[in-house]
Amino acid sequence: MNHPAKFVVVEPGSSNSKFLEIRVYAGEEQLGFVYLVLGDGAILLDIIHVDSRYRGRGLGSSLVEEVERLARGLKCRRVHGEVTVNDYTSTPEKRDVRAEWFRKRGYSATKQPDGDWVIEKDL
Ligand SMILES: CC(C)(COP(=O)(O)OP(=O)(O)OC[C@H]1O[C@@H](n2cnc3c(N)ncnc32)[C@H](O)[C@@H]1OP(=O)(O)O)[C@@H](O)C(=O)NCCC(=O)NCCS
Repeated sequence: MNHPAKFVVVEPGSSNSKFLEIRVYAGEEQLGFVYLVLGDGAILLDIIHVDSRYRGRGLGSSLVEEVERLARGLKCRRVHGEVTVNDYTSTPEKRDVRAEWFRKRGYSATKQPDGDWVIEKDL
């Protein structure tokens, strides 16, 4: 990564779309993204992903901070999501590790009967 990370909010479709994406770039290269859905007073953090070559450098944490900044700007009071086996965390163990990752970033993480996790943070 030769450039400082740059965060870009992408609004597909019309400007009042309820779907949003934040991408992180170093120069022209995209290093990661987070997909969001705007709800009523809350933002659903649907998928977060950082290129495996660039993990462990704080980009994921910064993406989450950008989500929270955006949420506050939109007067949302909550960010929430799920950590499931259907996303990039393909094994139950990784699911638990990822829930812990969110917990360290101030999210509550509640395990569901099926082993998935509900994560949320009040802003
Ligand atoms: C979850 C994810 C977005 C985090 O991105 P990231 O840029 O690595 O995040 P950070 O650098 O802020 O934090 C990484 C943590 O792992 C540690 N770490 C160190 N080296 C690492 C490496 N090579 N790879 C991953 N994590 C590493 C960091 O120390 C940090 O630990 P901490 O939780 O104790 O602070 C990324 O791992 C990812 O894309 N995973 C696959 C997709 C996924 O599981 N998404 C979540 C469900 S949708």
